[in-house]
Amino acid sequence: MCGIIGFTGKRAAQDILLDGLQRLEYRGYDSAGIAFFKENSGHISVRKTAGKVSDLRAIVDEENISTCGIGHTRWATHGGVTNANAHPHRVNNVTLIHNGIIENYHQLIEKYKLMGKLRSETDTEVAAAVFDANFNGNPIEAIKKGLEDIKGSFAFCIMFKNHPGEIYIVRNVSPMVATYTKEQGAFVASDLTAFIEFTNKYFVLPEYCIGKLTKDGIEIHDLEGKEVEPEYLTVDWDVSTAEKNGYPHYMIKEIHEQPTAFANTVNFRIKNNLPDFSDDGIDDSLFEGITDVTVIACGTAMYAGNVGRSLIQNHIGLPVNVAIASEFRYERPTITDKTLVIVVSQSGETIDTLEALRLAKTKTDRTLAVVNVKGSTIARESKYVLYTHAGPEIAVASTKAYTVQVAAMYLIGARIGVVNNLCEKSKIESFIADLKKVPDAIKKVLEMEDIIRTYAARMANAHDAFFIGRGLDYTLSMEGALKLKEISYIHAEAYAAGELKHGTIALISEGVPVIAIATQEHVYQKVISNIREVKARGAFVVLLSKDEKITDPSVCDVHIPLPAIRDELSVFEAAVILQILAYYTSVEKDVNPDQPRNLAKSVTVE
Ligand code: F6R
Repeated sequence: MCGIIGFTGKRAAQDILLDGLQRLEYRGYDSAGIAFFKENSGHISVRKTAGKVSDLRAIVDEENISTCGIGHTRWATHGGVTNANAHPHRVNNVTLIHNGIIENYHQLIEKYKLMGKLRSETDTEVAAAVFDANFNGNPIEAIKKGLEDIKGSFAFCIMFKNHPGEIYIVRNVSPMVATYTKEQGAFVASDLTAFIEFTNKYFVLPEYCIGKLTKDGIEIHDLEGKEVEPEYLTVDWDVSTAEKNGYPHYMIKEIHEQPTAFANTVNFRIKNNLPDFSDDGIDDSLFEGITDVTVIACGTAMYAGNVGRSLIQNHIGLPVNVAIASEFRYERPTITDKTLVIVVSQSGETIDTLEALRLAKTKTDRTLAVVNVKGSTIARESKYVLYTHAGPEIAVASTKAYTVQVAAMYLIGARIGVVNNLCEKSKIESFIADLKKVPDAIKKVLEMEDIIRTYAARMANAHDAFFIGRGLDYTLSMEGALKLKEISYIHAEAYAAGELKHGTIALISEGVPVIAIATQEHVYQKVISNIREVKARGAFVVLLSKDEKITDPSVCDVHIPLPAIRDELSVFEAAVILQILAYYTSVEKDVNPDQPRNLAKSVTVE
């Protein structure tokens, strides 16, 4: 979604803005722009264009020594991808950028008599006009009055004519972080990656508080005018973690980071061979006496929840419901105060997941967020938070975040079992001992990268692909199909292997790739039978299994052997293979896997 950066300080702003926008490219966007105060003047200049940050670089003045400006990457919601719709938007005294959606912009157009006066099709320009109409020389008053009328989610970064060196910020729901360093000045951004080069300390702007950034500091006041002290957070990664470090794309770098991400998420939480969340401040009372679990998430995070569901339901014996956040919000929740609600989100900002969490909180106190980004809204609003320690995930397609989300679900499942005596302790200890071996197993899979790459060439020509499996393998198939479609644009579907013949097998014809996952001993032969059914209809079958060799070569066209590990854990190995397969299929098709079309990393609109 839209990326925001603002800087006012002791050095030229333009490079900071452009480099910041480049770092925010991963969020997904289709146009870019900056605005800045002209040197020694209260006048503001705007440069913007549809296209990439590189296109914006081509139209900015090389010698721009302005020390105060704002920059934006736009992901189109209201209005097409045009120069006019790109941000910043200027209406008389007000120039602003915005992330979010103004829900009542139609009413605002009427109330402020803007019909025929707007130059773009955006809701953002309407907001600029509202602030401008309320501006009588005092920026904070204009913002306060404007906010009385503006409804929706927003993070605004605003400059007012004749207020050089000042940037004003305010947000509701949409994320916005800021920081001040004595050496550089004040920064604001939609996420920390935009200014991580300068500091790893930041704070989240509280909702409905107005921040004023100048070269001397950041002042924050609530709408009553009371001063608010920012709560600074520190992340344990730096700019090098957010760079490609020699890899051609972030995605493949992040795939390779999985053994470390897994170990960082799991190891410190294992004490006396059992999962222990005391360092997270998670009290066992959260799990005691629960009758069921509801997992709420979107996309890949939801698929991680599905794997967790399979483990918890089948091994701990508790019913688990996995809800798509955007659906959950509009259904009647069956949650009680004995339901454990787990919300899973890499970014911690996905609006549907956040709103679903808010709804769940009206039914139960037992909310646990599994989140990667420290201090994100979901992490702050959930009663408990279990951070995954994947480090920043920049590629749009989630890889290492998925793996650590599944790992977190496994730890939670095991802890539920311990606390409620739902499983023999010795069994859980042995499971946890094996869980610690997963990073080594993933390393072995990564050694197969070159071989898997050769199969991608075959995939790249396909129009459709099917992913099949049973049990845990089926839950992983969904993620495999999503990964392939989002970065290679090949239509892909996941099916429970036994379900294919109830309709979908009609789509199998000569050469259609079927990626079959068969790692679960208790259903292995059944999956093999299902594979024979598609093979008999001409499918090109890629089989992932733990067999060292396939004795009957007629079962598949390609066999990818997985390192030996207990059945519940092979999902981690197979996930990495599917990620590598999707990645190289995308590369083979000349798609940029880091920035697939139409997609955004952090989905902050509904
Ligand atoms: C796909 C992908 C998305 C996200 C989804 C939720 O590769 O990354 O499906 O998983 O948008 O995002 P978070 O986890 O940030 O809530």
